[in-house]
Amino acid sequence: MSTPLYQDALSSSLEMSKWERIPVVIFEQPKVAAARVAQEIAQLIRDRVAEGRDAVLGLATGSTPIFVYHELARMHREEGLSFRNVITFNLDEYFPIGPDHPQSYRRFMREHLFDHIDIDLSRTHIPDGSVPRAEAAKVCEVYEQEIVRAGGIDLQLLGIGRTGHIGFNEPGSARRSTTRLIHLDRVTRLDAIKDFQSEDLVPRTALTMGVKSILQARRIVIMAFGEHKARIVGRTVEGEPTPDIPATYLQDHENCLMVLDEAAAGQLTRIQTPWLVGPLAEMGLSWSEAMLRRAVTWLAQKTGKAILKLTDEDYNSHSLQELLSEYGNAYEINLRIFRQLQNTITGWPGGKPPSDSQIVSQPRTLLSPSAAVYPKRILIFSPHPDDNVLSMGGTLLRLAEHQHQVHIAYQVSGSASVKAEVLERYLDFHQQMKAGSPSDRGGPVLQKKEMKAAIRRAEARAAARVCRVDPARLHFLDLPFYDRAPEGHRKIATEDIDLTIRLLEEIQPHQIYAAGDLADPHGTHRLCLEILSQALQKVNDQPWFTGCENWLYRGTWADWPIHEVDMAVPLSPAEVACKRRAIFQHESQKNQAAFLDGDQREFGQRADDSARGTSRLFDALGLSDYEAIETFHRWTLGHSVQ
Ligand code: F6R
Repeated sequence: MSTPLYQDALSSSLEMSKWERIPVVIFEQPKVAAARVAQEIAQLIRDRVAEGRDAVLGLATGSTPIFVYHELARMHREEGLSFRNVITFNLDEYFPIGPDHPQSYRRFMREHLFDHIDIDLSRTHIPDGSVPRAEAAKVCEVYEQEIVRAGGIDLQLLGIGRTGHIGFNEPGSARRSTTRLIHLDRVTRLDAIKDFQSEDLVPRTALTMGVKSILQARRIVIMAFGEHKARIVGRTVEGEPTPDIPATYLQDHENCLMVLDEAAAGQLTRIQTPWLVGPLAEMGLSWSEAMLRRAVTWLAQKTGKAILKLTDEDYNSHSLQELLSEYGNAYEINLRIFRQLQNTITGWPGGKPPSDSQIVSQPRTLLSPSAAVYPKRILIFSPHPDDNVLSMGGTLLRLAEHQHQVHIAYQVSGSASVKAEVLERYLDFHQQMKAGSPSDRGGPVLQKKEMKAAIRRAEARAAARVCRVDPARLHFLDLPFYDRAPEGHRKIATEDIDLTIRLLEEIQPHQIYAAGDLADPHGTHRLCLEILSQALQKVNDQPWFTGCENWLYRGTWADWPIHEVDMAVPLSPAEVACKRRAIFQHESQKNQAAFLDGDQREFGQRADDSARGTSRLFDALGLSDYEAIETFHRWTLGHSVQ
């Protein structure tokens, strides 16, 4: 690492170099990480001023660098950081697009940085997306010349796309590529729907600096935040260099640093299977129960054996000798983890009625001050109207059948993911039913967004009916942050937290379930969980909260890894069928998902496969063979989710 700025972060050590082909620093919070990058840029600018030279910055757009820009603007305002000696080159621009188009990168840069600092706009460069197509090649050629004329780029800032693109160098881009017109990958276009509202409006092409142009920068800082980036970060840092993942070309650069938050670092070997990297103590880690469970479940999956069948030899040959010396022999370890996992399985997610003599044998994970309360008041938070049934439809059904008072809070309206064609279909139906005069057509004058929200409410109510939840206990919070701004620009406000607190205080739940699925690429789940987290921090001194159990569910975008499962609810074939019927009620959500690797399955199918897959895994580990299993992770408040 070339700068002391990152010294308090988790950084790459010598042992890691075998795994990590790009130096990496990991910060707990993305904002802290971004602030450090801003400091590095500020330092470069000041150094250049001292030398009487210009600083040449390569800039990126997208959601990742926004905080870096805001921090630079703050330094300008409060610390007098001047950008008079700065020249900038942006990586890319959509094509065709006018400079004033709300989604143009020219506009983005003005909004987030240029309008807030003293930079000379004539020294800022962004590929011109407004020229006729015939002139695009010339624009690109001139762009390269301008970079050379400025003396080359001192520091290039990068984000990484889910396809592994840097700039808009999509999979297949050559190492020697320079600035050019490129076709955008489908996943990139799907990720851009959040800005352009509909897929049809997302440009199909863009102008981008090439891989070679990027690699010529003297310093590269690539940032990635959030769980949805973990997979591509893992492949970029640890995989072989390949044109399929253009970011892997950065492995060749001599002065490149990858700056991550913990969520984006989640699939690096040092985080996933640290024992492969070296002795845990040398990495500042220890063999906690959680680490032990992670290692044993990993070993069982790796060897394809049931936990109780793992041998000393298995531990020895998979870098887990440390465990044998600590616990004596494989069987002791196996039994310990087997019992832990077995204890997570319960058909009574809300606990058993006190009259039942078996209550004493309840899984240990369920014992808490509210465990004895029966029936319970249960509050399930669902970010979008379908997340609850997708991820925990079977559990929901059980809770309702066990006579608990089940409330569901739908956090956002979900209107943004109802396509125009679906709305048209509903309006058509509505008009036919009304059969009124043409002037009546369209019914009450509702905004399109509200009509879409109404569609999702109707679907949520239908799904809740299938799960036998009392319709009087459905709460549509319509948190304002969601409708106030388009995706990617949404911010939590006090109102969102107050609305949540009001509901919590009204219901005073004994159990809370919330979506912990933070791999959601749109960020809504993350914001919803953050709102709930902040609301709970504010009520955590109230007597009713003392015994409240908090569970996180997953399933739409990613599953809980087995070592993080604290409660596993098995489903019968009848419950799986019923869950599927509940999911089917969310008709407007069919074919909406944008997954990677050509995965065309709909959300419902993914949820189904994932619950069945979990069950197969439990079976393979030697636990039990059920039709499907829904899993939950105990949520300890205070653990930030941002
Ligand atoms: C932006 C760019 C892209 C983004 C990448 C990540 O100028 O060239 O490579 O850096 O798509 O985007 P976000 O940060 O929105 O996840």
